[in-house]
Amino acid sequence: MPHVTAFARNQWYVAAHGHEVGRELLGRTVLGEPLVLYRAEEDGGPVALHDRCVHRRYPLSESGLDGDRIVCGYHGFTYDRTGTCVYVPGQKRVPRTARVASYPVVEQDSLVWVWIGDPALADPRAVPRARHLDSPGWVTVRGMEPIAADYGLLVDNLLDLSHETYLHGGYIGTPEVAETPITTEVDEAAGIVRVSRHMDDAECPSFYSRSTGLTGRISRRQDIEYHAPCLYLLHSSIAPVGAEPGPDGSDPHGFRTEITYAITPSTDGAVYDFWAVSRNWATDDPEVSEFLRTNNHTVVMQDVDALNLLQQTLSSERAGGQELSVNIDAGGLAARRILARLAEEGATPVEKVR
Ligand code: FES
Ligand SMILES: [Fe+2]
Repeated sequence: MPHVTAFARNQWYVAAHGHEVGRELLGRTVLGEPLVLYRAEEDGGPVALHDRCVHRRYPLSESGLDGDRIVCGYHGFTYDRTGTCVYVPGQKRVPRTARVASYPVVEQDSLVWVWIGDPALADPRAVPRARHLDSPGWVTVRGMEPIAADYGLLVDNLLDLSHETYLHGGYIGTPEVAETPITTEVDEAAGIVRVSRHMDDAECPSFYSRSTGLTGRISRRQDIEYHAPCLYLLHSSIAPVGAEPGPDGSDPHGFRTEITYAITPSTDGAVYDFWAVSRNWATDDPEVSEFLRTNNHTVVMQDVDALNLLQQTLSSERAGGQELSVNIDAGGLAARRILARLAEEGATPVEKVR
C-alpha cells in the first residue's frame, strides 16, 4: 500500500487531552500498542498500561477500577498501577509473569504524553512545550478526531496551509493564503520545521472577523513550528492593515491565536488528530469560545473527510502513482525527511530544544 509512513518509536506522543483521563478507563491505540489510561486517586497522576489482560487478552479498558487497581471485566485478574497482577481468582499464588507493560507517561501543558519505545530512553525533559494550553490569561477550546489515514497525510496537511483557501474557503481560507509564498526553516538536529506566511493585506476570514469583530482588511501572520513527530504549533496573529506598534512598542497584532495539533499515529492507516485553539483576547466571553469550538471543529472535519478520501484513493491504486511537489510543499517534504530519519534511528531520541 502506498503512503505508509514508518513509526518513530522512541519519541513522546500525545495519548489524550488531560481532561479525557479520569476515573473512567480510556482505551487508545498508539503506534499499534493498545493502551488503557486512567488517573490514579493516590496522587492524581495519569497511568498508561498495556490494554490486554494476561489471562485471555480481554481489553482492560472495558473493565473497572477498584481504587487504583484495574479488575479485569472477564475473570477478575487484578492489576496495580505498575501493571503487576496482584490477584488471580481461585488461587493464592499469583504467577510471577503475570504483569502487563506500563508505559512512561508525562502530563504537561494539559496534554498526556506516552512513550511507546524503550522505557530506558524516555526523558521527560524532552517533551516539547505548548505552554499556552495551560497558562493564566489564555483560554482554550479543544477536541480530538480519529482519521482513517496514514499519519504522514496529516503531517502533509498541516504543514501546507495553502489548502485553507480551497478546503476551508469561507471559514479560515481566503485567496491570500494560497497566493502568498512561504518561507521554510529546518532545524534537522532538533527535528523542528518552521513554515511562515505573512500576508500584509488580506481579507479577514469569518473565523476571525466573527470572533474578534475586526472588519476590513487585515495583516495576517501564520508561523508554523512543527516539533517532529507529534507536536504542531501554529502561531497565528491578525491586525488591521497599517496598525502601528503602540507607544510602548507593543505588538499591533493584538489578536494572537495559538492553534495546536498533536499528530499521534494509532495504527497503520489511522491517526488521532488532537486539536486546540487558544486565545488571550476576549477570554471572558463564552460566546467567542463556543464560536471557535464549533467553527474549528467544522474545519477539522473538512480535513478529516478529505484525508479519509485521500487515503481510500491512494490505497485503491496500484503502487507507482507519482506525486508532483512544488514550492508550497517545502515544509511537508522537510517533515517527511525528519520522520524517516527518526523512524530509522529508532533507538536515538531526538534532542529537543527547550
Ligand atoms: S481475560 Fe482477564 S481475567 Fe480472564
Ligand atoms: Fe486544514
